[in-house]
Amino acid sequence: MASFEAKKITDKVYWVGAIDWELRDFHGYTTSRGTTYNAYLVLGEKPILIDTVKAQFYDEMMARIASVIDPKEIAYIVSNHAEMDHSGSLQKAVATIKPEKVFASKMGVKALNAHFNLDFEITEITPNEEIAFGDRKFKFIETRMLHWPDSMFTYFVDDGILFSQDGFGMHLATSQLFADENDDNVLYYEAAKYYANILLPYSSFVTRLLAQVPSLNLDIKMIAPDHGPIWRQPKDIKFILDSWQRWAEQKIYKKAVIFYDTMWNSTTTMADAIADGVISEGVKAVVMPLRASNRSDIALEILEAGALIAGSPTINQQMFPTLADIFCYLRGLKRQNLIGQAFGSFGWAGEATKLIQQELTNMNVELVADPVAIQYVPTSDDLTKCHQLGSKIAKILKSKGE
Ligand code: FEO
Repeated sequence: MASFEAKKITDKVYWVGAIDWELRDFHGYTTSRGTTYNAYLVLGEKPILIDTVKAQFYDEMMARIASVIDPKEIAYIVSNHAEMDHSGSLQKAVATIKPEKVFASKMGVKALNAHFNLDFEITEITPNEEIAFGDRKFKFIETRMLHWPDSMFTYFVDDGILFSQDGFGMHLATSQLFADENDDNVLYYEAAKYYANILLPYSSFVTRLLAQVPSLNLDIKMIAPDHGPIWRQPKDIKFILDSWQRWAEQKIYKKAVIFYDTMWNSTTTMADAIADGVISEGVKAVVMPLRASNRSDIALEILEAGALIAGSPTINQQMFPTLADIFCYLRGLKRQNLIGQAFGSFGWAGEATKLIQQELTNMNVELVADPVAIQYVPTSDDLTKCHQLGSKIAKILKSKGE
């Protein structure tokens, strides 16, 4: 067993999580930089472990705890979130540590009992009240649907640390524990990708939570999520809170995302002409051929876009299966306030364009301009229509978008 060390956050708090350098897929979301599963140890008269790690990293977590104290000294374990990347080691940890109590939210008690055959009782925590664990004070904040119904934040009053489980996190394996030790561009990219793929459908809950924060009277000095680095500089805390606020608002941005698949390049040629029309109006275009683009990258692009333009040839009276995949995914993410339209090519029947229009409508995308459906190979006139589709959408984005 390697000698994994805990990392000191304050005199009272240590990071005892794990770095997953290898993870490249999280529920179909490409995690190209891996991730971390952060667990935290709060020292005091009654040492407390906040969250655990994915099951395969149990030994690593225990070694990090053991570098600070004997794990059996831990009096309480708090589970902020039942999803197995944070609770997967809970059962084993309880068997070894034998804590006096394990705490979770009301929904967390249900979820943990449903996931595991537990031979210990989980105690439901009282939210929003200051609670003393020995000489340390905590507050627990229910954050339903961020990311699951059981989710809650734990606020450590003494040091002003908000342990926010999935909240304000990102999938980023890094040796640098604090956000200010990491590259700002990487942080923005990974935080946005995480929000777009995990939290976007729950944006109304994010808005409600952020509106509630001032009334909670928290003096937040650090935000310590369960994935990615810890936010400790005031400017970094402001950055992640402001970013979540903005992403939750789902504004219209001056950017069009064009995704498509193709058979003999007619649809590719059309996509390029549409993009040229968008660009001709000074609006940003992002063209994403589906065979070279993962759905989670498309979700990221759509987070800060205003238009979605989708194209496919007709194949056996259907759109391409790649389109069906991305529409299924995006429908679930529920991005609001988009405009868009469909385009495509066909041989003898043009169902794909109509099917795409139906999918866009199901996503609440407002269809503007006319769709473009062409037979076999686009003519010069067809490409002019594509260009006009792009420029018309761009003009609307210029009038409405940020
Ligand atoms: Fe990182 Fe919802 O678990």
